[in-house]
Amino acid sequence: MKYGRFINPRKFIDTPPDWNEIFPNPGKLMVEIGFGSGEFLCSKAIENPEHNFVGFETSLLSVVKTLNRLEALSLDNVVLALLDGRFALRELFSDESVNAVFANFPCPWPKKRHAKRRLITEDFVSTLSAVLEKNGHFELVTDVKWLAEEAREMFQKNGCFEPGELEIDPVRKVQTKYERKWLSQGKHIYRLVVRKKSRGHVERMVTWEMPHLHIKTPDLSNLERFVDTVYQESDKTFVIKDVYADIKNENYLFLIFSTDRGFQQEYYLRLARKKEGGWILKLDSTTVPFRTPAVKWSVAKIGELLGQP
Ligand SMILES: C[S@@+](CC[C@H](N)C(=O)[O-])C[C@H]1O[C@@H](n2cnc3c(N)ncnc32)[C@H](O)[C@@H]1O
Repeated sequence: MKYGRFINPRKFIDTPPDWNEIFPNPGKLMVEIGFGSGEFLCSKAIENPEHNFVGFETSLLSVVKTLNRLEALSLDNVVLALLDGRFALRELFSDESVNAVFANFPCPWPKKRHAKRRLITEDFVSTLSAVLEKNGHFELVTDVKWLAEEAREMFQKNGCFEPGELEIDPVRKVQTKYERKWLSQGKHIYRLVVRKKSRGHVERMVTWEMPHLHIKTPDLSNLERFVDTVYQESDKTFVIKDVYADIKNENYLFLIFSTDRGFQQEYYLRLARKKEGGWILKLDSTTVPFRTPAVKWSVAKIGELLGQP
């Protein structure tokens, strides 16, 4: 495979990428978010060799386990990424390009203060209204009845979907790890399938240019004064967590934590003296973040704090 089975979308040159370039054969795109041990993803890929599958996980252990499974099965129609699936689906797929999206037993986050961490939010529903093909579908399987009911209501309210009725204890060809766990505890399983009927819209935020700044004479005195201050503007936030100085080589690294609409990233900005004179502030290549509004703003703001130009 041109890109291997593990992909790092932060390094993609354009967005959305041409997914047909990533897989050996063109095919309809299917996405699973939170694939866990990969049973469902692999069985779907075996059943549908003419389709291409992309799995997103936030757990490195799950990615490694599933990569081993893909290797053992010699499946070349699946790629995996270690990335928040809500962000990935919105930013890495163009409108009407995905045939189906699956979520098996997403974490319910029942507490109100954790609601932002849930998979199915209004933003996720809008994302599906944009990226799913017409008649494409989203399938949710969960042991949490209120979650399935709440999701159904959200799809209904959005207006672009035809939500099916909730199925109780559907018979499935493959059971996932969590499915086996909940069934063994005597719990019910709920399945919701919603079909997209009309096209919606979602606001995307990633651009692919590399933010950088030229600074004539930065004020390098007492850089620690910036550490731990929270910079916030509309829905973007960043904090300079630390500053590392290599004074002999005139190089400074700023460790940044940023957040855009709940999506967090950690990366370094490098301030270095240029041979031809002056300084440059840019993303350090050891950590390549998605170029979100907060990332771009952190470059501009730190430039301002250092006294640019
Ligand atoms: C309860 S487990 C279910 C795993 C598997 N689907 C199953 O049924 O056995 C939820 C999984 O979703 C992953 N996860 C949680 N939030 C995620 C997100 N925003 N994007 C991708 N994966 C996520 C977790 O790492 C975990 O593996």
